[in-house]
Amino acid sequence: MKVSVVGAGYVGLVTAAVLADQGHEITCVEIDEDKVDKLKRGQVPFVEKDLSKVVARGMRHRKLSFCTNLKVATEWADIIMICVGTPTRDDGYPDMAHYEAVVDQLCECLTGPKTVVNKSTVPMGTARRVEARLRSSCSQPDTIHVISNPEFLREGTAIHDMYHGDRIVIGTNQLDVQMQMMELYAKLSSPVHICSPESAEMIKYASNAFLATKISFINAISELCEVTGADVEEVAAGIGADQRIGTEFLKPGLGYGGSCFGKDVQALISTCKMYEVPFGIIESTVAINARQPYRLALKLEDALGKLDGREIAIWGLAFKPDTDDMRDARSLDFIKFLLDRGAHVRAYDPAAYSNAFRLLPDVQFFMNPYDCARGADALCLLTEWQEFAKLDLESVRRSMAHPIMLDCRNAYDANKMWQSGWDYSCVGKTPPKTLTSA
Ligand code: UGA
Repeated sequence: MKVSVVGAGYVGLVTAAVLADQGHEITCVEIDEDKVDKLKRGQVPFVEKDLSKVVARGMRHRKLSFCTNLKVATEWADIIMICVGTPTRDDGYPDMAHYEAVVDQLCECLTGPKTVVNKSTVPMGTARRVEARLRSSCSQPDTIHVISNPEFLREGTAIHDMYHGDRIVIGTNQLDVQMQMMELYAKLSSPVHICSPESAEMIKYASNAFLATKISFINAISELCEVTGADVEEVAAGIGADQRIGTEFLKPGLGYGGSCFGKDVQALISTCKMYEVPFGIIESTVAINARQPYRLALKLEDALGKLDGREIAIWGLAFKPDTDDMRDARSLDFIKFLLDRGAHVRAYDPAAYSNAFRLLPDVQFFMNPYDCARGADALCLLTEWQEFAKLDLESVRRSMAHPIMLDCRNAYDANKMWQSGWDYSCVGKTPPKTLTSA
């Protein structure tokens, strides 16, 4: 099938590359000429496991190409997938400017028959509204269909998720379009869930909001564990063993970050306001998440007595491992707290250095974790990169001014850390001794 994918961001590029790998003819349309030039030379503009390999394979087999001309790409394709960003407006509602700009252009050049697929996360009712609009400017209106087909790709494992997703949601009531989409995804083994466009749009928001709520729930439980002497990991394993709850997304830490959860939860809250539907649980999810970095940073302040003038080393800045993405990273709030209290902050991240550098002008950056920790008064692990599990922690501890570690992702075995001379603190576990004042 011939597919034009509009937008070469995380979602667009991964979708385009995998569909090309499955034998479809894909043109990825991107407004940014510089990005298109780089992609044509095989350069992927962000860190995503295996993506460069799959993009290169698609280009080699002449199944994947890049261009800037939406009109040409639209005329050529059977299916147009819109994968542009819908960031958050000041009032919490999705900013539809990029999406609407694409629709405006489609209005000018769309002739039937075409299927327009919304992969961008858009408010409930968008597919139906845009279908009516596109049809009104087209000579063969009945051959234009707009459907919702949300993505569930996680950064860092997006290629894997695309091949092995838990489900493919196809939001259209039109039988022939359902068949067309099933043919498009025929080589993927994921079960297909067919529903109305509004339900598909809601599934995307509700999925992200539910996952964010699970994370905030376990983070609130972790605080309770610390004051009651329970161990949050034992608790998470115990409740997760109930298949109705499941073990996924019950990992306590610094809170959820990234470009999706915060944005989609805010969108749901503004939708609730718009329709006057009370939904307090989701507001609590946001409040717990906002508090978590400060709650953990206060532990460090307790350990050190004061933060003013202290040298604090940070391992990990990206919002999660295996990405260089700093959007809404919890590390930013955590570090701001330290800087506001007068601490000197130095940091190391395996991949996010260039993105973090712009956002954290008052932080000193190091190119390896050992140099970053040397001489520091305390070390904080903020992103659980695999690399940190393999380091020689004994030599790190000996190189520091004080052996204080705050592990905000429970990346290390707490019992081993407490036995090996670290003044170690983590999330939702009570240490056998409190962190001592340095
Ligand atoms: C998320 C969803 O997981 C995807 O299904 C969805 O498609 C995507 O948003 C999107 O809407 O595009 P992503 O933001 O890439 O994917 O990352 P996640 O793996 O979901 O992690 C989000 C945040 O939650 C990270 O900061 C992570 O550290 C945190 N997290 C995750 C926890 O603190 N605890 C957990 O148990 C899991």
